[in-house]
Amino acid sequence: MKKNILITGGTGFVGQNLARLLIEKGFSVSILSRTKKSNQESLFYYCWDIEKGTMDEEAVLYADCIIHLAGENIAGKRWTKARKKAILDSRVVPVKLIKAVLKKYNKKLDAFITASGIGIYGAYNSSQVNIEDSPLANDFLGTVCQQWEAVADEVLPFATRIVKVRTGLVLGNGGFLNKLLPLFQWKLGSVIGSGNQYMPWIHIDDLCAIYLEAVTNEQMNGAYNAAIQDNTTNRVFSKTLAKVVGYKIWLPPVPAFLIRMFLGELAVIILAGQKVSSAKIEQLGFQFQYTDLEATLKDSV
Ligand SMILES: NC(=O)c1ccc[n+]([C@@H]2O[C@H](COP(=O)([O-])OP(=O)(O)OC[C@H]3O[C@@H](n4cnc5c(N)ncnc54)[C@H](OP(=O)(O)O)[C@@H]3O)[C@@H](O)[C@H]2O)c1
Repeated sequence: MKKNILITGGTGFVGQNLARLLIEKGFSVSILSRTKKSNQESLFYYCWDIEKGTMDEEAVLYADCIIHLAGENIAGKRWTKARKKAILDSRVVPVKLIKAVLKKYNKKLDAFITASGIGIYGAYNSSQVNIEDSPLANDFLGTVCQQWEAVADEVLPFATRIVKVRTGLVLGNGGFLNKLLPLFQWKLGSVIGSGNQYMPWIHIDDLCAIYLEAVTNEQMNGAYNAAIQDNTTNRVFSKTLAKVVGYKIWLPPVPAFLIRMFLGELAVIILAGQKVSSAKIEQLGFQFQYTDLEATLKDSV
């Protein structure tokens, strides 16, 4: 019988690509969403209401493995107090709901796999390379990621393995790039702030392949950085994207104070960055297919 993989927030950029890959690899896929959608062949939709604390329990009961991607968009709007709460709650509360169902039916999963972010290491500009055991940050994103991972660990009595995918900036036909691209297509894209902030990235196909590995490879357990280990800074990224869409950056860098004025505290996600090591996932035998930024951007736009 086909193994069933449940993806929370599977309607988003990562989830849609991942569902396609898992179905292609012979899995049956279910999606847990806040809105009901019609089932398709090998793709089943279930609903939950996170605020009310209710869900279609079959979603969890039929799952062999759960991949938790649901979460309020981090970069969507300014980080007001209410927005910060929504960003955290939308990642933590759903796991508590899932755990309650697992406990109620004494159900055990092969694995509980959660998205996390490289923001767990903090937002600062340094060439220090963060490995999975590096100190974790206590700024807003660092705290969110730590609580996101900690609640996933609480599922352990009901899952053989817990895997945490600390994701860098995901490049592909969707997500962040879709928002940035129009600016560059109008030849108005430029370097942000000093341009020296690191921007660890990963192609959507490689990220989905890491999730597939997390489902199938029983050795995979704990936290893994999911980003290319290279020297991409914002300056490198902006110049390469401009080149890919056919121009040379002519505008001066956007001053950091302007970004802070418009975005408030959220500005940190584009004004600061950190380097991460990809050694741990590669030691498992995983090979990234996309390691060249220009080729990746060409493939994505
Ligand atoms: N894309 C990136 O560059 C990147 C980088 C690092 C980490 N990540 C993390 O990876 C995960 C997936 O990323 P993505 O790019 O696919 O995100 P996405 O496109 O924004 O999709 C996330 C999904 O989460 C659900 N969701 C949104 N707000 C929610 C809320 N308040 N409560 C519960 N569910 C909510 C939505 O599904 P429904 O509307 O169907 O409920 C949405 O489709 C996210 O947790 C994200 O933070 C992404």
